[in-house]
Amino acid sequence: MKVNGTPYRSLWWDDAQSALKIIDQRWLPHEFRIEQLDTVDDYCQAIKGMHVRGAPLIGATAAYGMALATRIDPSDESLDRAWDVLHETRPTAINLRWALDRCRAALRKTPEANRPETALKLAHEIADEDVEINRRIGLHGLDIIKKIAAGKPEGEPVRLLTHCNAGWIATVDWGTATSPMYQAHDVGLPIHVWVDETRPRNQGALTAWELGSHGISHTYITDNAGGHLMQHGLVDMVIVGTDRTTRSGDVCNKIGTYLKALAARDNGVPFYVALPSPTIDWTVSNGVAEIPIEERSGDEISHIQGSLADGSIGLVQVTPEGSKVGNPAFDVTPSRLVTGLITERGVCDASAEGLASLFPDLATAAAQA
Ligand code: MRU
Repeated sequence: MKVNGTPYRSLWWDDAQSALKIIDQRWLPHEFRIEQLDTVDDYCQAIKGMHVRGAPLIGATAAYGMALATRIDPSDESLDRAWDVLHETRPTAINLRWALDRCRAALRKTPEANRPETALKLAHEIADEDVEINRRIGLHGLDIIKKIAAGKPEGEPVRLLTHCNAGWIATVDWGTATSPMYQAHDVGLPIHVWVDETRPRNQGALTAWELGSHGISHTYITDNAGGHLMQHGLVDMVIVGTDRTTRSGDVCNKIGTYLKALAARDNGVPFYVALPSPTIDWTVSNGVAEIPIEERSGDEISHIQGSLADGSIGLVQVTPEGSKVGNPAFDVTPSRLVTGLITERGVCDASAEGLASLFPDLATAAAQA
């Protein structure tokens, strides 16, 4: 997608430096900063500290981290070490383990001398695949938006609500939940997006930045406003991303997603999840019981970062000294609250049967593993 007219991906390989470049998302939407990752520790810090974030982007970044580790030392021991340190950065998004497993399995079958080249090629492949997966999710999501638009008076916008940032900067490009929005806008279909702020880290500001840069009409709202808007008939469709979806269709996404799904169900608003296949965890079925939920630092709750009056970026404290804070970063929406899963292969029910019908190859491979 474009930033000030220049096309970007959220990460890219710099041949001259032989290193990965990322958009350091900690400073958005106020500053656009690019960071170069030079060591495996840089990769770990970038993922854990959320310089890069969003399940698909974490996976792609980790693949480049494996490539770097292989270049430094191509042995099996080095691969295992890199797998371990990268894997422990963030526990919830399954794309991280998916990418690490894919890289390690392929590299183990490769002679050591060829591993650095193969690893880099594989990381490029994973990044390119992500772009194509998200483009396809966008096309399938666009079909749903078109159907909703067909039931509205000519020219009236389809009103979508989204939570967190499942945008192009949470993936390599296009985004998952935002891809149908970009594609609708690009074919001239009028939409308006309600953007949840998404406390504590306010990823909604990233979504607002993205949509604004693309000229898409949107309104930034507090997390608590969604239910009210739905009660008043102001939301036609909710569309969110996911960090891990179980084989039975339970969806783990940014904290607060579950409340949106409850409000949507109570108000008859369709609740869709944009789901790239690497985000399916075929090994788990009950999301609430089995998905590990990341608990992040209380500082993210007690302090808010923003642009200060003098233009600098700073933190302000919002809690009284001494109050305890809790910061679970994700929650699980049970499949029964999900209207449909929008994948790169089409839209299916949020159920074991639905997922297996679109991904028989992956379901069978997982059952045999
Ligand atoms: O903690 P974050 O910002 O990495 O969480 C991101 C989300 O919850 C996204 O909705 C999810 O990763 C899907 S991104 C396409």
